[in-house]
Amino acid sequence: MVAIVLQDKSFLAQKAKSFVLLLHTNFKFDAVLKEISSISGEYLEAFFKEKKFIGKWGQILTLPVHNKGSFTYYIFVGLGDSKTEVLEYYRRSVAQGIRAAQGHKVDSVAVLLPSISKIDHEEIIRTTAVTISMTLYAFDDFISFKEAPVKIEHVTLVSAKKLTAADKKALTQAIVIADAVNKTRKLIDLPANFINPITLSEKAVEYGKEHKVKTTVFNQAEIIKMGMGGLNAVGMGSQHGPRLVVMEYKAKAKNAPTVAIVGKGITFDSGGLNIKPTGYMEDMKDDMSGAAAVINTICAIAQLEAPVNVIAVAPLAENMVSSKCNHPGDILRFYNGKTALVGNTDAEGRLVLADALAYAEKNYTPDVIIDLATLTGACVYAVGPFFSGLLTQDEKLAKQLEKVAVTSGDALWRLPFIELYKKMVETSFADICNDGKTKYKAGATNGACFLSHFVEKTPWAHIDIAPTAFDVPDTPYYQNGGGTGAGVRLLIDFIMNYEG
Ligand code: BES
Ligand code: ZN
Ligand code: ZN
Repeated sequence: MVAIVLQDKSFLAQKAKSFVLLLHTNFKFDAVLKEISSISGEYLEAFFKEKKFIGKWGQILTLPVHNKGSFTYYIFVGLGDSKTEVLEYYRRSVAQGIRAAQGHKVDSVAVLLPSISKIDHEEIIRTTAVTISMTLYAFDDFISFKEAPVKIEHVTLVSAKKLTAADKKALTQAIVIADAVNKTRKLIDLPANFINPITLSEKAVEYGKEHKVKTTVFNQAEIIKMGMGGLNAVGMGSQHGPRLVVMEYKAKAKNAPTVAIVGKGITFDSGGLNIKPTGYMEDMKDDMSGAAAVINTICAIAQLEAPVNVIAVAPLAENMVSSKCNHPGDILRFYNGKTALVGNTDAEGRLVLADALAYAEKNYTPDVIIDLATLTGACVYAVGPFFSGLLTQDEKLAKQLEKVAVTSGDALWRLPFIELYKKMVETSFADICNDGKTKYKAGATNGACFLSHFVEKTPWAHIDIAPTAFDVPDTPYYQNGGGTGAGVRLLIDFIMNYEG
C-alpha cells in the first residue's frame, strides 16, 4: 500500500524519482521552476514555450532529467484558472499527474501542493491525498505478471506553508477515507465467484472486528423468522442464501444523533426469471456496491471517532435463476407487514432494501436514513456517469447532502420525487408492485416511490448509485472498468458534519 507523508521542507530537496507541479494558467516562472531549469540545462522556459504549456486545464508536460545514470521526471500539470475552485477539476489534474508518474515506472513521487483561492489548505491536503490514493488503486490480483510491476509506494505532499496540526489531521483523515474507498472498490471488483452473500457477510465481520464496530449477521432462517419476505424471496434462488448485515458504531457522547446508512447488496444480479439479456448482465457483480460502501463507511467513521452514532444495514442476496427462485407474480410480505406484487424479478434491489429500511427505522429510530443502491438503469440514462441520483422529499436533508456532494467528490443530481408519482407503484393485487406503471417512465423515481413505503416517519434520502458505482469513463482517479467506491466519501463527509 502507498504511504503518503506531509512535508514543509524544500520541494526539490525531496528524495523522489518524480515531481509533480500543478500550475495555474499563466503561472509565474518562480524560484522552483528556475531551480528545475538550472538542474536541467536552463531550457525549461523554452520547453514550455515550444510545447505551448501555459497551465491550461488538461495540459501535461514531462521533463526527464538525467543525473548519474538515472532519470528524475518533472511533471507539469495545468490547473486552468478559476476551474479549480470546483474541486472536481483539481482532483482530475492531480490524478493526471500521478498517472503520468506511474507511466514512468517510478516508485516515488513528490507533489507540490498549490494554493487555490476559496479552498482551505487543509481541504487541499485532504483532497489531494484521497485522490492520489484512489488513483493508485489497482485491481490486478488475478494477473500473472512476468515481472512485478513498479508501483508508486511513497508519496510526499509538500506544502509551501508551514504545516499546522490541522493540516496533519487532514492527512490522517484522508488516509482513512481513501482506505475505505479502496476497500469498497476491491469488494466490488472481486467477481461473484468470490463474493456472495456469505463471503461478503464474512468480510463485514472481519472489517467490523478490525475497527471495533459491532457486527451482527442474520442467516436465512433468521431472515424468514423476522418476516423479511423481500430479502428472502430475492436470495432463495441461490445456493448461497441471503444474509442481513447490521453494524453499529456508538459515539462517545450519550445524546449524539443517529444516522442509519443502508446499502443494496446484490452480489450478482442475473435478473432472476426476468433474466437480463447479453450486454446487461456482465457487470452485475457491481450490484453490491451500496452494501460495500456502507460497510466500509461505518469502519471509517469508527476510526475517525465521529460524534454521531451510525448504523449500517446491508441486505445481501444473489439474484439467480433456479427451481427455488421467486417468480413474476409472486406476492411478498415484508418486515413492516406491507405486501408487494413481484411484477419483475429484476427489480430486486427495492425488495431487499424494503426489509432493510423498515428494520433500520423500527429497531434504531435514527434521526436520518440514507440508502445507497445501484437501483435502476433509468438513473444511468438520466444523469450520466458523473452523478448519482438523489431522491428525497426532505428539503433540509437534500441541502445537507448537496453540500457534501461538492466537497467530498461524490456528486449528486436531484431527481423528481413528489407525492403524485407515488401512484406509479399501485396495483390491485397487493399494497404495491415492484415494477411500477411504465407510462410514468421515470424509473429512478419509481424505485424511490416503492422504497418510500418502508420509511414511515424518518427524514430519508435514496441515492441511486447505478450511474457512478462502476466503470465510470474518463476519470483518471478511477481504474477503467472497475468499481469506484461511490458514496463512501459522501457518507463520511455527511456523517462527520452531521449536527441533526
Ligand atoms: N441492478 C439493476 C440496475 C442497474 C442497471 C445497476 C445498470 C447498474 C447498472 C437493477 O436491479 C435492475 O435490474 N433494475 C431494473 C428495474 C426494472 C425492472 C423496473 C432496471 O433498471 O431495468
Ligand atoms: Zn435487477
Ligand atoms: Zn440489481
